[in-house]
Amino acid sequence: MKRIGVLTSGGDTPGMNAAIRAVLKIGIHYGYAVMGIYHGYNGLIDGRIHQLQHQDVDNMVHQGGTLLRTARCEAFRHEEGIQKALKVIHAYGLEGIVCIGGDGSARGARDLHERGVPTMVLPGTIDNDMGYTDYTIGFDTAINSVMNEIYKIRDTMRSHDRVGVIEVMGRQAGDIALYAGLAGGTDIIFVPENKRDWGNAAEQLTANKLKGKLTSIVVMAEGAGGADEFKNFIRDNTDIDIKSIVLGYIQRGGQPTAFDRVLATRLGARAVELLNEGISGRAIGISENKIIDLDIVEALNIPPRFDNSLYELNDILAKF
Ligand code: F6P
Repeated sequence: MKRIGVLTSGGDTPGMNAAIRAVLKIGIHYGYAVMGIYHGYNGLIDGRIHQLQHQDVDNMVHQGGTLLRTARCEAFRHEEGIQKALKVIHAYGLEGIVCIGGDGSARGARDLHERGVPTMVLPGTIDNDMGYTDYTIGFDTAINSVMNEIYKIRDTMRSHDRVGVIEVMGRQAGDIALYAGLAGGTDIIFVPENKRDWGNAAEQLTANKLKGKLTSIVVMAEGAGGADEFKNFIRDNTDIDIKSIVLGYIQRGGQPTAFDRVLATRLGARAVELLNEGISGRAIGISENKIIDLDIVEALNIPPRFDNSLYELNDILAKF
């Protein structure tokens, strides 16, 4: 029986299980045995590989995390690690691999493709920082989770007439802060892509207070400086009562939204269709609600997009 493999790599995202489920079911549809590769590229190097059965994905479409586990793999960045993986791929007779993850995972898939292994990339990161696709799997869930936390924090900040600065994930990318901040009606958004002067932000919060707006909510991407640091800056330079909150992993877990489940399912299905057509080295994504695929190297060369117009729009909304 023909065999393909599927792995998840890098930070987990809600919707990865829905993607694995689609790969398995569409794989079976085309007559493949689908092998689960555990702990990302580590599992390819060490042979942590088991055939998936449909029972493995029963009751999984709605669960966050990844049933295949995930990891970042230093060994796969070196030729020795890749060569070990190639031996394992050969030993298990894998005729194709679907790699679900962010940029690092896509580079791993490219390395396998360049050495003759048919591979497909599915974009899986809550950061939404893969430029070739409008959305990555998990981003929609993450921004909804953050938005809901913003409202809870806003309740208690308002009761105490406080300012809250909420740190969200995104070391290099501000999309979680931008979209959750906009959806949560926040006053100031900090992102790594467009550095904002902290002195001006302090003036804005002071002006809010002077005009009787005692509660403001600030959202800070982790790569934009840190919520604790901003809190200390405001305490040192104003008389504003400010609290900092670091959301952390709460925004990377949880049930995927319908959007993420549908996206993951469409992308997973397309990856197997392409492998079945004998195609390799493609990154699957979504553009204008159509599933697209492009060369992995080309996809990796497209820088992440940041919508500055949304950032500016929030600034205007926050003025009034
Ligand atoms: O999944 C993406 C991401 O959440 C980034 O926003 C963050 O910087 C990073 O992963 C942290 O992940 P970990 O703590 O698992 O290394």
